[in-house]
Order: sequence, then C-alpha cells, then structure tokens
Amino acid sequence: MRSPAFFCARYANSFFLLSASGFLSFDCGGKDNFTDKLGLAWISDERLILGDTATISVANETRKQYTTLRHFPADDRKYCYTMNVISRARYLVRATFLYGNFDNNNVYPKFDISLGATHWSTIVISDANTIEVRELIFLASDPSVAVCLSNATTGQPFISTLELRQFNGSIYYTEYEDQFYLSVSARINFGADSDAPIRYPDDPFDRLWQSDSLKKANYLVDVAPGTVKVSTHMPIYVNKDEMPPQKVMQTAVVGTNGSLTYRLNLDGFPGNGWAMTYFAEIEELDPGETRKFRLLLPGYPELSKAIVDIRENAQGNYRLYEPGFTNLTLPFVLSFKFGKTSDSTRGPLVNAMEISKYLEKNGGSLDGGIMASLVSRYSSVDWAQEGGDPCLPVRWSWVVCNSDPQPRIISINLSKRNLTGNIPLELAKLTGLVELWLDGNSLTGPIPDFTGCANLKIIHLENNQLSGELPSSLTDLPSLRELYVQNNMLSGTVPSGLLSKNLVFNYTGNANLHKESKRRNHIIIIIGATVGAAVLLFATLVSCLFMHKGEDKSHGQEEMGLPLPPKKLVSSLNDAASEAAHCFTFSEIEDATKKFEKKIGSGGFGVVYYGRLKDGREVAVKVLTNDSYQGKREFSNEVIVLKVSLLYNSTCKYTAISFLSLCPVTRERSINWVKRLEIAEDAAKGIEYLHTGCVPTIIHRDLKSSNILLDKHMRAKVSDFGLSKLAVDGGSHVSSIVRGTVGYLDPEYYISQHLTDKSDVYSFGVILLELISGQEAISSESFGVNCRNIVQWAKLHIESGDIQGIIDPSLGNDYDIQSMWKIAEKALMCVQPHGNMRPPISEVLKEIQDAIAIEREAEAAREGNSDEISRHSMFSSLNIGMGSMDLGATEQHLSFDESIAQPTAR
Ligand SMILES: *[C@@H]1O[C@H](CO)[C@@H](O)[C@H](O)[C@H]1NC(C)=O
Ligand SMILES: *[C@@H]1O[C@H](CO)[C@@H](O)[C@H](O)[C@H]1NC(C)=O
Ligand SMILES: *[C@@H]1O[C@H](CO)[C@@H](O)[C@H](O)[C@H]1NC(C)=O
Ligand SMILES: *[C@@H]1O[C@H](CO)[C@@H](O)[C@H](O)[C@H]1NC(C)=O
Ligand SMILES: *[C@@H]1O[C@H](CO)[C@@H](O)[C@H](O)[C@H]1NC(C)=O
Ligand SMILES: *[C@@H]1O[C@H](CO)[C@@H](O)[C@H](O)[C@H]1NC(C)=O
Ligand SMILES: *[C@@H]1O[C@H](CO)[C@@H](O)[C@H](O)[C@H]1NC(C)=O
Ligand SMILES: *[C@@H]1O[C@H](CO)[C@@H](O)[C@H](O)[C@H]1NC(C)=O
Repeated sequence: MRSPAFFCARYANSFFLLSASGFLSFDCGGKDNFTDKLGLAWISDERLILGDTATISVANETRKQYTTLRHFPADDRKYCYTMNVISRARYLVRATFLYGNFDNNNVYPKFDISLGATHWSTIVISDANTIEVRELIFLASDPSVAVCLSNATTGQPFISTLELRQFNGSIYYTEYEDQFYLSVSARINFGADSDAPIRYPDDPFDRLWQSDSLKKANYLVDVAPGTVKVSTHMPIYVNKDEMPPQKVMQTAVVGTNGSLTYRLNLDGFPGNGWAMTYFAEIEELDPGETRKFRLLLPGYPELSKAIVDIRENAQGNYRLYEPGFTNLTLPFVLSFKFGKTSDSTRGPLVNAMEISKYLEKNGGSLDGGIMASLVSRYSSVDWAQEGGDPCLPVRWSWVVCNSDPQPRIISINLSKRNLTGNIPLELAKLTGLVELWLDGNSLTGPIPDFTGCANLKIIHLENNQLSGELPSSLTDLPSLRELYVQNNMLSGTVPSGLLSKNLVFNYTGNANLHKESKRRNHIIIIIGATVGAAVLLFATLVSCLFMHKGEDKSHGQEEMGLPLPPKKLVSSLNDAASEAAHCFTFSEIEDATKKFEKKIGSGGFGVVYYGRLKDGREVAVKVLTNDSYQGKREFSNEVIVLKVSLLYNSTCKYTAISFLSLCPVTRERSINWVKRLEIAEDAAKGIEYLHTGCVPTIIHRDLKSSNILLDKHMRAKVSDFGLSKLAVDGGSHVSSIVRGTVGYLDPEYYISQHLTDKSDVYSFGVILLELISGQEAISSESFGVNCRNIVQWAKLHIESGDIQGIIDPSLGNDYDIQSMWKIAEKALMCVQPHGNMRPPISEVLKEIQDAIAIEREAEAAREGNSDEISRHSMFSSLNIGMGSMDLGATEQHLSFDESIAQPTAR
C-alpha cells in the first residue's frame, strides 16, 4: 500500500506536498483523506480555499473521489494547484473531470488547463457521466509545478482529481524533453479481458492502460476480420521498471487472417509525437512456424521495411520487445495496420501501444523568476498564492503584463493589501514596469532605487510608513508622470529635480521632508575622517570564536594567520547563522569609534579606527576612500559597514583556510559531497545577505574560492570585502576600473564595466564548478587543449550530458547523481554570459539546500540498504558508449543517439 508520507506543507492555500512514494492524489472537493480499494491514498484539497466544492452522483460511479469536485468562478484569472516535485525527475500528471451536472445547469463546461506557463489542453465536456482524462509526462525543471484551471468559453472550470506519479527510469526520456512535454493520447492494452483499465497496483507507476474493448466514439474501430484475443498466465519477462506491467503483456490480439487493422482519433494531433509498441510472443508456436509482420502506416512506406519477428527480436517467448519512434508526425485520425509477411505462418500479434504528442513548453514570462522570489516571501497571504506563471497563460489578478510572447510585467497593483516590511526590492528589478501601486499598506524603510525600471510612469506609495529620503534617482526616470508619497515618514529634502519636473507630485504629510536643501553632518564627518569623499566604511571582523587552543595538528601548515571570516556582530545574541556581514547604522559606528577618535592604522583601502561596541567587543573600523563615488551619491544616514573586525587579543589563535588550499588534503581525507554542498550553502547565505540584507545592495566583486574561508568545523564564511561596492545605482553602476580575479571575473562586467549583483553570481558559479570537480578555476594542464578555463571545460561536459567527466574522482561514488546534476546545472546557469540570464543568489541557495536534502535522504537510504555496488556498476557502465546498451533503467540525463523515425530496436 502506498503510504502518504508528506514532505512538507508550507502554504496556506497551495499544495507543496509530495508523498514519499512519489505519488500524490488529490480528491478535489473531498472532505476526508482516505485510501481506496486499489491502495491509493487520496487526500482532500480542502486547504485550497479558493473555489467551491460540489457533490455529485453519477450512475454506476461509486468511487469516492468521483462523488465530489471543486469548481472555480468563470472569471479572468486562473486557479492553481502547486505541487512539490524533484527537479530533473520525470513525472506523470493526470487530471480527471466528471461533470455530473454539478451546477444543475446541464450546459457542458469548456475550460482550459495549463501546466505552469504552458497551455496543456482545453477540457470539453460532452457527457455529464463520462470522465475526461488528461495525462502529461514531464521532466521537472523546477522544485514545484503548478496545474491551473481557467475560464475558456462555457461554464465554470472544475476538477475531480489531480494525480502526480513519479517515474524512476527513463523510457520516457526524449532528446526534446527540456523543451517539450509528452501529452498522452493513447495507452492501449490489447486483448484486455474487461473494460476497466489496468493501473496501480499492477502498474507500479499507476499509468492507465485502457482496454481495447472500451466503447468510445472513434476508438479502435475498423478492426480487421479474423482478429482474436489471446492471453496467457505465463510470467512475461519485462526487464525494465517502466515497461508495461506483466498483466498488460499477458494479453494480446492476433490477426488470424493475416492482418490487424485499427483506426482511432488521437487527441491533440496532428503533430509530432512519440509512439511505442510492446510485443511479447504469448502463443506456443510449433517448431516450423513463424510470426513475422510489418507495420503499415499510410504515408510512411519506409516504416514498412522493418520486419518484426517477436521471438527473434526478444530472444524467446514471453519476453518483451518494444520498438518505437521517438519523433513521428501523426494525423488526428490514425489508421494503422500490422500485416504478416508472405513467408510467415502466423498472423501479427500486438500486446500494447502508447502514443503521446510533443507539447511545446512555454518559456514563461521574463519576470517569472523575480516574481517567484517576491511571492515566496509572502507565503501566508492569498495574493501571493495564485501560483504558476505571473502572466501565462492567464495573468495573476494583481499584475498586468504586456502581450509579448514572453511577456513582461507592466503594472503591479498591491494597494491596501496590508503589506509590511520594506518595499520588496524585486519590484525595482521589473524592467518593464510602468505602474506601481503600493499605497495604503504599512510599508516601512526606504524607497528603493527604481532606476532599473526606466518606463515607470506612475508610482503610488502614499499612506505607508516609509522613511529615509526621497531618492534623487527618481529624477532620472524619464517617463515619470505621477508620484504620490504623501502620508509617510520620509525625511530630508525633496530632490529639486522632482519639483521642476512635469509631474503630479504629492509629498504632503511627511513631517520631516523639506523643500530646502541642507548639508548633512554625517557626510562631513566622514569626509573629514578620510581623504576627500569617503563612501564606504569597511572593517574587518576577526573573531575569536573558532579559536581552539592546541587545535589538532592535522591542518598542519594550513594553520595560518589569515583573518577570520567576518562574523555577524549580533551572533552571540542569535543563533550561529552564517551571515557574513551586518548592517550598522552610522550612529552605531560613530558611537563605537567615539566619532573616529583613535586611528590605529591605514592601509590600501583607507584608514582604520579603533572602536568598542555596546556589548564590549573591540572592533577595527576601516573607512574606505572611494573615488568612484565622489560627488555622485549622497551618503545616507543608514551607513553600511561591511566589515567590522573584532580585535583579537594575543591569546587567540585561529585556523582559517580557504577550501582551495584544502584540496590537496582531500586526496586522502576527501571532503565529501555533502560537506562541499554545505560549504556552498554557507557561502551562498553570506552572499545572499550582501545582496538582499542591506539597502542598497552590496556587491562583493571578488568572490573566489580563496575568499571562502573554512573553520575547523568546515563551516564557510565569505571574506575579503576589499573590493565590495554598494550598488547605489540599482544595478547600473559603471566604474572605470574593472576589479576582480581572473577566472572568476564576470565576462559581461569585464566588457561593459557594468557591475551588478549578477557578477557575484557568475563568480559563485565558478566556485560551484570547483566544488564539483576539485579543479582550480584556471589551469593550463587540467582542461585539455585550447581550454584553460573551468567554465568552458565544465560547460562542454555538462551540456553533452557527461557529468561524470567533471566530477572530482576523489568523491568516489559517495554522492547522489541527482543532487550533483542540480548543482551542475545551477552552476551553468550562474556562468551564463549575460547577467540577466543568471539566477539570483537566493535561487542558487535554494537549489543547494534542495541538493543537501536529497543527499541526506540518499545517505540515509545508503546506510539503510547498501546498494553501492549497483550504483557503481551503473556509472561505470555509462562510460562505455551508449549505442549498443540497454538504456531502460540507466541514468536519465545522458544524451544518446536515437535516430529520428527509426525503430529503437535493441
Ligand atoms: C489530509 O492529509 C494531509 C496531508 O497529510 C493533511 O495535511 C490534512 O490535514 C489531511 N486532511 C484531513 C481532513 O485529514
Ligand atoms: C449501470 O450498471 C447497470 C448494471 O451493470 C447497467 O444495467 C446500467 O445500464 C448501467 N447504467 C449506466 C448509466 O451505465
Ligand atoms: C470567460 O471566457 C469567455 C470566453 O473568453 C468570456 O466570454 C467570458 O466573459 C469569460 N467570463 C468572465 C467572467 O470573464
Ligand atoms: C524504481 O527503481 C528502483 C531501483 O531501480 C526499483 O527497485 C523500484 O521498484 C522502481 N519502481 C518504483 C515504482 O519505485
Ligand atoms: C480471410 O481471408 C480470406 C482471403 O483473404 C477471405 O476469403 C476470408 O473470408 C477471410 N476470413 C475471415 C474470417 O475474414
Ligand atoms: C521532430 O521532427 C521534426 C521534423 O522532422 C522537427 O521539426 C521537430 O523539431 C522534431 N521534434 C519535435 C519535438 O517535434
Ligand atoms: C487587512 O487587515 C485588516 C485588519 O486585520 C483586515 O480587516 C483586512 O481584511 C485586511 N485586508 C486585506 C486585503 O488582507
Ligand atoms: C495630497 O495628498 C493629501 C493627502 O492625501 C491631500 O489632502 C491633498 O489634496 C493632495 N494634494 C494634491 C495636490 O493632490
């Protein structure tokens, strides 16, 4: 029996559940969870508070899941079920619809169903008592998937069941699977002994193998005379997990008079599709007898050349032979025939068949990633739970999108939604934004820099509790026509540019916001404290927290006097979370240093002052002189200090080593994959903190493995903020000098001198590749001819499916291939040539955490039942050419040759 053990249930009205067995079955509109006669565990979707439920009664339909349904208003929005999946795993998703006249309307509804941004199908009800079924096979590319219903033409959208089944082999691998889904049109069990489909538990993946005797319009008609059913009780050798269940293979039809003919309608076609036939000889043939036949498909004379001889092809009776086509153009009305060859004594035989159509995936709206990150922070409120793509196929209720094939968001309306906290920074990244309505909330903090949204025309921020100054960058918005900021707690001066603009501008009700310009003291202090204009304030935090006297000598020469990674100053109060930097207010620093009283040194980046924090710890505060900011940006009251070093006393020693320098050690005492993932996680957290924890964003600019420091517990810290910059220009900073380290340097930044947080993401991608491969970023030996660079080298391998080629051999078999793929793919995303194609660091962090979860689970499983040997043999077998091999049960992510429209004979 399938046990419904759920991973997690995070959200109020979305479902992020996946049963441990890879099954998830929603009884839509149902009130209780229950297990049916087959052993499938159905769960109520009652937590989806949207829509309404209805009870129906349909003659001869007693299954509990078909006595209820959930229906939704026929409005202009979509209603989604969001489900957790495992990235890079293949799934079958099935939605079923039994109308049952739930609305007492007797007008058959017609509505749309989509998977993510892709229109999946239009559900057309043509009989109140017949269940409509849609099935789709997909390779998960994200950790969650949304199935959404929306109004099309008639009636209310509704749904009876939603089922998710995880595959674990690769018969549904196709070389198009990253761009196409497989929409199932037919899955037929020939010679079936009843009308009921064969499914779970006979089929461990719960596919529906429909009976060929089912009475349905245009389904398997034009049957040739002489067609008879045959069956056997002998076991059938089906050597692969996802092949048809034995029960399906034990029945067949035989064309006793020489041919089998059928005609059926293929939903979704005409189009390109995937078709597989399943044969097993289940009759005992006399020694002199043969069964040889050909497929005859109108318009495909070349397909008839191949002759099927089941016993020969399968090497014996009661064994499976499954020729098929991975890409074949098929019509809506398919007529096919199996005809015996003239020298064959028996007529053709067929056991089962599957036909699916390629459904092109929609890439989704360009702002999809940004919006996903935005709504993930509002996990408990309705508006953030609409699910799926923000614009496609139907937009969320509070956004407006343009009509591009890959749309951008042009309007956000979150007026009066009880928003608290800062204005989400994601909003400033919506480059197509024209209107922004955030009025009437309880937003606090500063107004972010909207320079990146060059089309902004209307901004409504009135009636919040926003503080800080009115950013002068607002003056730079060329299209701005309406700016409402009244009734906030803004202070400082109104940038004169805004007053002279042709603008509807209301800033009343901000007690401390004035028209007249005044010089701010703080700036003067800093300027006085440094040479010219100081803009960045740095200090290096060196903590004694990792100090261990008599620390074991195993680190040997690695024990060196590197400054320890910065530690969050409030860490002693909180948990040991690994934030690498902390935002201090200017006055905190001023107090600590007694207004920069005691100078204790000066260096390349500026002058260092002595300070003492409120909790007594001593710090060194480095004040940076930075010419590139001179006269450019006023210094805000909320000064950000990147590095505050705890001064260490002489009794403290510390071990800090970069992970790179640890690599030689790893030869014997390898850092295992989980540890490496944890290092990546710690580092990503630090970077995420820099990118999102401070306003404005901080860009590290010099991420590299030698700047990731490890303590003796192998916890990592990001260090050396020597080159860090505040991204005061909202991601459009152009600096005259490109800085960074060769091998990690973002090529786009190098060329354009245009610095964004995505430059750090690039460098982090390089670090991930180093963690996977154990190679350094630049090497003249390791990567073969014409390639000195880890990025090119890894890209070549990963994109051709050869991940084994880059995995550090010292990891042995001690990792889960799925987590490895996750990280490898994310790393490649990070090193995309263009910043806008790279994911935000938070997304990378999430992926790393997912990989860690996978790894922990796999680890537990490995401890539970040691199948190291089979894993090992699987991988080694992958290295020896794929052509002649049995691919059914091997790894999914390999590319192998399969000629188009050629039978995939084994
Ligand atoms: C059904 O099961 C889910 C998942 O375990 C649980 O969250 C939910 O509360 C259950 N509902 C009922 C009505 O028992
Ligand atoms: C329900 O089942 C009974 C007995 O099998 C049959 O006579 C009747 O026609 C069925 N009704 C419908 C609506 O299918
Ligand atoms: C539902 O869709 C149909 C067809 O597009 C449209 O005519 C109708 O107005 C929509 N219903 C609502 C309430 O938007
Ligand atoms: C999945 O794969 C494993 C190992 O290959 C196998 O033991 C198992 O039966 C397969 N099927 C299911 C439904 O998990
Ligand atoms: C079988 O084929 C022969 C010749 O093609 C035909 O005469 C005969 O009627 C067929 N038998 C049946 C049962 O259709
Ligand atoms: C299938 O083949 C056609 C032409 O032979 C090609 O255009 C198409 O891209 C292929 N793949 C899919 C998924 O349709
Ligand atoms: C905002 O909060 C108030 C009071 O808690 C509540 O009455 C109102 O419905 C909320 N509005 C929204 C849009 O959630
Ligand atoms: C500005 O906003 C205040 C408060 O909402 C309002 O009373 C006033 O009429 C507005 N002024 C203009 C010029 O719109």
